[in-house]
This record gives sequence, structure tokens and C-alpha cells, in this order.
Amino acid sequence: MIIGRCVGEARINEVTFISTKMPEIGQYVILEYDNKKILGMIEDLIRFNPTINEELLSEEEIESIKKFEESYVIKGKIKILGDIENLKLPKIPPEPGTAIKIATKEILEKIFGKDEKSISIGKLLTNENVEVYVNVNKMISRHLAILSITGAGKSNTVCVIVEELAKKGVTSLIFDMHSEYVDAEFSKKKILPTKINPIHLHYKEAARMMNIGEEAYIQEMYFRKAWESVKEKIINMKISLNINDFFNSLIKELDSFAKRERSSEESIYKVILKVEEFKEKFGEIFDLSYDDIVNQIEKGKVNILNLGSVDDEVADIFVSHILRKILEERKKFVTSGKGLSFPIFVIIEEAHILIPKEFDTFSKYWASRIAREGRKFGVGLCLVSQRPKALDANVLSQANNMIILKLVEPNDQKYVQAASEMLTDELLVHLSSLNIGEAIVIGPMIKIPALVKIHEFQKKNIGKDIDFIEESKKMEKKEIDLI
Ligand SMILES: Nc1ncnc2c1ncn2[C@@H]1O[C@H](COP(=O)(O)OP(=O)(O)OP(=O)(O)O)[C@@H](O)[C@H]1O
Ligand SMILES: [Mg+2]
Repeated sequence: MIIGRCVGEARINEVTFISTKMPEIGQYVILEYDNKKILGMIEDLIRFNPTINEELLSEEEIESIKKFEESYVIKGKIKILGDIENLKLPKIPPEPGTAIKIATKEILEKIFGKDEKSISIGKLLTNENVEVYVNVNKMISRHLAILSITGAGKSNTVCVIVEELAKKGVTSLIFDMHSEYVDAEFSKKKILPTKINPIHLHYKEAARMMNIGEEAYIQEMYFRKAWESVKEKIINMKISLNINDFFNSLIKELDSFAKRERSSEESIYKVILKVEEFKEKFGEIFDLSYDDIVNQIEKGKVNILNLGSVDDEVADIFVSHILRKILEERKKFVTSGKGLSFPIFVIIEEAHILIPKEFDTFSKYWASRIAREGRKFGVGLCLVSQRPKALDANVLSQANNMIILKLVEPNDQKYVQAASEMLTDELLVHLSSLNIGEAIVIGPMIKIPALVKIHEFQKKNIGKDIDFIEESKKMEKKEIDLI
């Protein structure tokens, strides 16, 4: 079906057209020239009526426009994507008058279609008969960012992707910051215990967990001495593998320093207080019998680490510790055949908290290492965030693939655009008008940019908006029952 014709100046990668029909933004079209079928995407539309002069001023004249209401012309812009056979850009622009046709389902299926290395994430927004598949190898090796305002469908997208990966036998690991994935019904799921063996922690990691800041260097120095001495005792089996004994030994050690070094007494007692506070709040996450976390990750499953009950500093240590271990173990495997034997896709929810722009975190260091080196060792990173502009720009720009759902704030939009050359100004304009679950998908994992309606993951119990009235009624009932 011909929907319009090229007019004005055409370029190799951009064409203007006019039409009397109303096409849709994101719709794919075919132009035949240079003996080839060339695919394009409608990126911009302007509707106008050539018979109406914009400078009309009088009321009668404005009233008189009404009779032209049904007659309009559409002027639009098409981004040329390339030859339908190989998506290469043609060497010449189309002739003026070249017909613009809507791309058929068959052509689109060939482009977005299924093969054994791809997974389905949704359907084309402009043609719901066409399913959109993305290449798994390119998604994992070139990393992914899933970005949007809150509630637009990021976690749902994660669910769709990890479930499809599990069906293909590909392992994923989700750092579940708000305990929202633990109840989702993935076909192959493993919940990892929120535990860490202190033996595996660097003293700096332990200090940060216990809120001993780098700037409090006297506190850190005594903490280091005590931590390393207790660790040595455990390794030499001088104390039992009981976590209470562990904390008691740590405090005893610090106490003995305080008695010896009177001038630093105050600092040391502050450390003791912080260790005690940590023990009370999060003590049970330490487990001396706990095997290395990497040995607990199960191949081919959706592995979930529930971090909903810990605070941001503790989550940072967990995430960085595991990222480090995964990278080291994968390197070991690739070079010596020992270590983590399967590739893995790691999903970091709330990435702006763990990998912030403004300050350094342990997770930021290891995430940027994976962003740079992960490709060679089969470790992929997926950053999920509702505040893209608070995310570290370096790590974000390593995420070559992007699924961007509704994003309203202009600064967020510009920040994302700066990280990805594929996000054109024309695509950017549409980010604020997307509905829930609708996304712009760009990057090497998809042959051409696409507007996609992401599948709804049916078996999730996640991200449900709270019904404030119903929840409040439940609270009232509980209160009455108690009386
Ligand atoms: N593709 C979709 N199709 C239909 N409904 C969807 C889709 N994506 C999300 N939803 C609905 O929107 C709600 C919010 O989705 P989701 O929890 O994925 O958003 P989010 O971006 O992760 O939010 P937050 O930033 O708060 O984590 C869910 O209850 C879900 O049912
Ligand atoms: Mg979410």
C-alpha cells in the first residue's frame, strides 16, 4: 500500500515525504530505488492544511477553518535503515516522488525474526503481528541498560528476559534490592541465601559494612588490626566456627587495644560500638560455614539474591564481592579450566544507588571492570534504573544495548542520549509519550531500532501498585482485632 511520496531534498539516511493518510511514528516503510528495497522508519510527523493561512486572525476566519477539518496533509521524516537484505545504507538518495509503502509482516519478520540464538521480548508497537527477538550473545556480551521512570515496566522487562534466558539454559543472577523477584514464578529459579563468609571479606569491605568511614583513619587502622587478627585465628582454627564467638573475639581484640593505647581509646570504643550495632542489625548475614557464593549459583537458572532487608552500604559489599568473585572465577575458567564453568548475565536493580555518578562505591569499581572486561570472559551486565542521570556515565556508556521505557525528565533523556549514539533526537522525543510496557530498543542485540510493546510476564507477583484504600482497610481490621 502506497502511503506517500518523497518530496524536497532527500539524503542517503533521511527522507522527507508527504502523505494524505495518517501513518504512525515508529512504523516501518519500504522505498524502492537503486534496484533495491530499502527499509525506513517514520520518525517525525507534522499535520497541516495547505489551504489555511497561519496568519488568520479574525474570529470569522478561525470559525471558517472548521469546514476544512477533515482535509489535511501529513509531512513526515523517514530515517533510512538500509537494504532489507543486509541493512546496508544505499549509496544514493531516492528520487523525488519515490513511493513510500508500509513494510509487510513478512519483511519485518525476517528482520526481527526468531533464530536459535535469540529470545522474544515483545511485539512491534506499530504491528502487533510481528514478534521482536533479540540476539542473546550480543545482549550479554555488549551489556544492557533498562531505563525508565518508576512503574513503567523495567522489572517486568527483566522478568521476561531472564525467563527466556533460563529456557535457553543461560544463567542469570538478579540483585534483588526490594525483594520483588523472590516470589516471581520463574520456570527455573534459585534463591541464594543472603549470607557472606567474613573470611572472604577484605578488611576495607568489612569496615564499610560496619559504617567505619575511610576518613576515620584511626578507627580504620584499629579495625584492620583486629579484623586480620581474628581472621588469622579462624584460619588457624583457634576459635570455633560460631559467629557469636567471631564478634566476641573481634570486640575483645579491640578492647585490648583500647586498654593498651589510651590516647586512641575514644576512637577504638567508637569502633566497638559500630561492630556491636552491626552485629545487632545484620549479624546474621555473616556465616563462617558459608561456602563461596560463586559455588552456590546454579547453571541455567534465574538466581536471585534478596537484598531487600539490608541497607545500601551492606548491599554494596554484597554486590561488589559477588561481582569480583564472578569476574575472577570466569577468568580462571577461561585461562585454566577451573573456576566458574558457565557464562552469566548479572542484573543490577537500582543501579544508580550501587553505581552512582557522584561518588565511588565498591560495586562501581567492579561493575566498571566487568563492563570493560566481561565480554572476553562471558560476564554480561544489565543495569536497571529509574534515575539514569544519577548513574555513572562510564559504566552506562558501556551498555551498548538499551531498552528505554517511558522517560519524562529532559535531563534524564539527554544523559541517556549522551551515552548512546543510536538514540537520535527524533527517537528521544517519543520517550515521554510511551505507555507502560512500551519501549525503544536499540543496540547490537537488535538489527534496527524498534518501538516494542514488551510482553507482560504473567507469572510475576512483582511491582504491583499498592491499593492504598484496601491496604488501609486491612490495617484498620487488624487494629480492631487487637482490641
Ligand atoms: N509490558 C507490560 N505489559 C503490561 N503490563 C505491564 C508491562 N510492564 C509493566 N506492566 C505493569 O506495570 C506495573 C509496574 O511495572 P514494573 O514493576 O515492571 O515497573 P518498574 O519500572 O520496575 O517500576 P519501579 O521503578 O518502581 O521498580 C506492574 O504492575 C505491571 O503489571
Ligand atoms: Mg522495578
